[in-house]
This record gives sequence, structure tokens and C-alpha cells, in this order.
Amino acid sequence: MGRVFLAAIFVVFAGRAMAEDGHEVWLRYHALPTAQAAQYLPLTTTLVAGRPSPTLDAAAKELRQGIAGLLRRAPAARERVSSGGAVVIGTPASSPLIAGLHLDLTGAGKEGFVLRSLSIDGHKATVIAANSEIGVLYGAFAFLRRMQTGQTIDGLAVTDAPRLMVRALDHWDNLDGSIERGYAGASLWRWQTLPAYRDPRYREYARIDASIGINGAVLNNVNTSANSLTAGYIEKTAALAEEFRPYGVHVWLTPRFTAPQEIGGLKTSDPLDPQVRAWWKAKVEEIYKAIPDFGGFLVKANSEGQPGPQDYGRSHSDGANMYADLLAPHGGIVMYRAFVYDDPGKDWHLDRVAEAYRIIKPFDGQFRANVLVQEKEGPLDFQPREPFAPLFGAMPKSNMAVEFPVTKEYTGQGVDLTYTGFMYEQIYKSDTYAHGPGSTVAKIVMGDYGQTLTGSAGVANVGNDRNWTGSIFNQANWYAYGRFAWNPQSSARAVGEEWARQTFGNDPKVVSSVVGMLMASWPAMMDYQAPISLTFQELDSANTHYGPWPWLDSPRRSDWADVYFNRADTTGLGVDRSHTGYNTAAQYNSPLKEQFDDIRTTPEEFLLWFHHVPWDWRMKSGRTMWEELQFTYSRGVKGVEAIQKDWNGLEGKIDGERFTAVKQYLVMQHRDAVWFRDASLAYFQTFAKRPFTGGYKPKYPLEYYRKLPPNTAPPE
Ligand code: GCU
Repeated sequence: MGRVFLAAIFVVFAGRAMAEDGHEVWLRYHALPTAQAAQYLPLTTTLVAGRPSPTLDAAAKELRQGIAGLLRRAPAARERVSSGGAVVIGTPASSPLIAGLHLDLTGAGKEGFVLRSLSIDGHKATVIAANSEIGVLYGAFAFLRRMQTGQTIDGLAVTDAPRLMVRALDHWDNLDGSIERGYAGASLWRWQTLPAYRDPRYREYARIDASIGINGAVLNNVNTSANSLTAGYIEKTAALAEEFRPYGVHVWLTPRFTAPQEIGGLKTSDPLDPQVRAWWKAKVEEIYKAIPDFGGFLVKANSEGQPGPQDYGRSHSDGANMYADLLAPHGGIVMYRAFVYDDPGKDWHLDRVAEAYRIIKPFDGQFRANVLVQEKEGPLDFQPREPFAPLFGAMPKSNMAVEFPVTKEYTGQGVDLTYTGFMYEQIYKSDTYAHGPGSTVAKIVMGDYGQTLTGSAGVANVGNDRNWTGSIFNQANWYAYGRFAWNPQSSARAVGEEWARQTFGNDPKVVSSVVGMLMASWPAMMDYQAPISLTFQELDSANTHYGPWPWLDSPRRSDWADVYFNRADTTGLGVDRSHTGYNTAAQYNSPLKEQFDDIRTTPEEFLLWFHHVPWDWRMKSGRTMWEELQFTYSRGVKGVEAIQKDWNGLEGKIDGERFTAVKQYLVMQHRDAVWFRDASLAYFQTFAKRPFTGGYKPKYPLEYYRKLPPNTAPPE
């Protein structure tokens, strides 16, 4: 009997150790060291939750589970504060106790919260209060985060509220379960068994979103099938909405522009046609009947072969406003993507990078108040290094949302450790000069210049992999996306540190190594993949977008070819976007346009983006451009080696399963970095016609790299 009992205990503990497979993400709530727990225990003795509701219950459950896990002692449930250390949660509407405290909740707004340490009936208490129930849930997560990251929970006087209204994750999930540009398994949404079967992961997913303030999930791919709007799928979508609802995650859909013809039997999908509008009106009503808190539509139109208003001789604003007018009575929103560009055929006359601005800017002021014009963070397409998209500084009369990659299509996919938080910060703090110096992208997106609707969309990196994101470090990007959507003026380092502490614990060496790895990862990747802002060198014949293919030309479209983006020839490398070339630098406001127009004043990090640079161009380092290119690629490889070293130094401090997984991923990343360096330099050298320097030489001849099949890296 005793032996069975001991064996059972062993299984429980072994199970717990083995369960570090990443499924819990940053909400692990593993026991804190005794000394740290000791400071929190007297302040978390009881939980006073007030009137129940699905969202308040979720908050109470989270606190119970979190405190029990972190401190090894659950708070006792109480109806009122009768002893020291109570945690009191609620809204003035749900809790007479909170109402009676007359707290100033103005700063909490619609979705924010306050955390206050105060005395209630002579007892020390902590209050988590908000104007809305979701605010209370966000407050509960913030309170737990304080303990997880080793901060005090005494003397609290915190008011926090999200700076963006829409904080959406955009899932590029197809109805067959596959995910476009997804690297973490199949779609979480199991359409076949919905609405009857409710996979517990739906709610787990929403809980994770809520923990970082994400309040929207666009369920279907931007390249979508019209079927997601059929009655059957609306019913399935409503089931997902029901699962997400307690956690404040609203569902959104991408509508297919030609749905009136494809599933509605109409002869046209012209947005100005009365029958078409009537069809969409009925469809929108059908959706809101099933899902009263439906978020709205995220639209990709007339882009990359998707249908749109232009197919009917109508404009982008006609298309966006048709949806906007029909959604408005229900409180719905349109996120209309500015990711549009024309097909130039084989011609090089069009600068792909100039397209969103050229096509969308003329409509500034013509979009309805419930339209967010959604622009990718850079003017091209989620590349490792792009200057911010100039459209942000050119649409003063429109609500501008930013679209960020969370999935890493062009920045390491499921393999490389690259922390997107670094990119979010760089873009958000870029100065557009639209309203004078200091008009950063963050301020424009936050609505500081009078915009009434604000938001961001992140292209999701989650799938049904056990650890949600394919690799442990990819979780940091989900985390960072949510935290930056909450506050676009966040610091990547601070967000990374929060994530590191919650994910791996508070050991100082672990924290400093992991934060160092995160912060070094994006610069290293830019070095080995996009040195000196060389761009779009991952386009391959199979459309996998993985690995270097700088020699690739496209038989059909100039702008779907690496050679179009590198312009390597015997005179130099890079694209002339100054007045002697495409003149795209002129899309930026002064003084940027002048700065970018001149090769001597362009920041070197953007040199090959804006200029065709001679191989012998003297860089600030004193090296020629050709030498600098080699130096930068090699620095990227060394950067990965440094990251590997940091991680290897944590052996024994991280559980075995996660330690080994990350270690193995880093080996692949090193292989990728070497591949990028060697294949690219072998190719560019055929134009530079200058020797390799410093004893460096690519491992294989150029022909070897050219013959590699897509999606395969050469062995190291
Ligand atoms: C990229 C990506 C596509 C995606 C597109 C978009 O081009 O490769 O898969 O559909 O972006 O953002 O719409």
C-alpha cells in the first residue's frame, strides 16, 4: 500500500517535471522560492469576489489557481473582508463592496483596471477593480504577473488601461485546418466537430489571449473561402465566440468580397449594387444574431489575386464603406488592409515598396468612422528590416491600424529564435514627422492626433502544437504582440524580461541570459538575412519563403523575384529609391525624405533599401560595401553563436525538456545563418568580382546552393 502511494507521488512529481513542455506558456504558476512567497502570503489570504458572472468567475478562478500554484496555498473564498490580506475583485456594478469604496476609476476607462492596497474595515486588503468585468480579469492577470515577476504587491496604486481599442490576432487559418504561413501545427479551430464538440483548447487559447490583453481573434485566412460565411460556419463560429466570451476575445471574420456571387447566387458583387448591399446586410444581421459581440470584418481586397471593389470599377473606399455602413448599427468595425499592390508583369517600372501609399493615400478622409486602415508595419511585407511604412505619416484623416507579424514567415519561420518585440519597438518609435518632430508611429496608431478608433492586428503564430507556437521562444512573440498592443510605447527589453521571468523563473542568471538572447536575436537575424537592409531574399520557386535564393527571377512577375529586390550587378547592390530612381524616398515627410534621398545621409542600416550602392562605397567603418557585406553576414553568424553560448550556460537551470528543445533549435538556426551568408556571398561575388576577405570563403560553390531544393538547408 505504502509503496503504491509512494509510486503515485513519484508519478505526480515526475509528471509535473515532464509537463514542462511549454503548454502552460507564461501562465505556469509554479511555486515561487519560499522567501519570495513569504512576502506575498499575508497579502493573499482570502478572495472576495462579489457577484458571479462568467468573466468575474474566470478572474476569481485565475487568482485562486495562480496564488495556489505560486504560493502553495489557495486563498479562502469569503463574502466580505473580515481579516487581513483579502484580495477583493469586481466592478462597482457587481460588488457593493467595491462601489462603497468610491475609487477613482476614470483612468481605467472601458477595459483597464486599478490595483489598490488599502484598508477595509481596518483590515489590509488589495482591490482589483474596474469599470468592466473584462477590466477586472485583466487586473487579475496583472496582479498575478507582479508575483510571477518578483515585484511587490504591497502599497499598490496602479492604474492601467490599454492604449489601443482593437487588439486583434489575425489567424491565417483555412477551413481545411491548414494555416497559411503557420509553423506550429494545424489550426486550433476544428471546424468539422464544431459546434457540438468544444475542444478545451478554445477556452485555454482565449485565456492566454486575455492574459496579455488581446481582445479579438480573426478566425479565417485573409485569403479566404466564401464558405466561412455560410449558415453552417456561422453556427460554428458562434460556438467559438461562446468559448472565448468569458475572456473578452471577440471573434472577427475575413469576408470574401465575391461571397454574394459564390454563396448568395447573385450575378455581381458590386459594392454599390442594391441587391449586393441587401445580401451583405442580411448576412451581417445573421452574424450578429448568432454572435451579438462580433468584432467585425478584416478585409483583404484587390491584393494578390483576391477579389475586391476594383473588379467592379469601384474604389477601395467604396468597398470598405459598404461593410462599414452595414456593421455600424451593430457596433462592428472594418479593418481594411492597405496591403495592396498592382501586378507589374515582367516590367520593373513599378516600385513594389511604393504601392500601398500610391494606391491608398488618395482615399484619406473618405473612409467611414468605423474603418481602420490597416497597414503592415513596413511598406513591403514583414521583412527583417524595413523602414516604417510611410502611409502612417500620410493619412491624417483616417484611423490607422498597424499590422505586425507574429508568425515569422520571413524571419526564421518555425526554426530561428527571433524576438519580434524588437521590431515592434523599432517601428512604433519611428518618427513620421507627420505632425512635427515626435509624431511617432505609436502616437499615430494610438490616436493622439484625433483619430477616434485605434487598433492593431498581429498575424498569429499559434497552432495546435502542444506548446502552441512550435518553439518555446516563439511564445515570446505572442506575448510581445499582446503587450505592445496594450501599450505601443512599451520597451522590448522590459516586455522580454516579463516573459522570461514568467516562462523560466526569476533566477538572475536565467533572466539576464534569456533577455540578452531575445534582444540579440533580431539584430543577428537582420545581419545574416538582411545585411545593410538587403531585402526579400527568401523568395523561392515553391513559395515557402525559407532560406536564401538571391539569384531567383520570376518567370511571370518582376516583384516576386529576389533579383528585383537586390538589383545586384557589376556596379553595385541595392535599389535606387532616390530621385534618380523610383523616388520612393519622397513618400516620407521632411526631413526624412531629404535624408533618405541622399546616399550620404541615409542611415547605413537602410542603405541598400534606398540606394544602389557601388561595391567600393566607403562605409562609416572604413570598409568598402563589399567588405561590409561580408562582415555583416559573418557578424550574424557570430551573433547566433553568442546566443547558443548564453543558452548552453543555462544547462541545469532550465528543465531538461525545454532546455534540450531550445538547444536543438539553435543548432538549426546556426545552420540557417551560415547558409544565408554563404549562398548569398557566393552569388554576390559573381557581380562584385572582388576577392573574399579575411580568409573567408563560402563552404560550397554557388552551383551547390542554386541546386538545393526549396525548404532544405545544406548540412553544416
Ligand atoms: C505575404 C504572404 C501571403 C499572405 C500575404 C498577405 O505575401 O506570403 O501568404 O497572404 O502576405 O499578407 O496578405
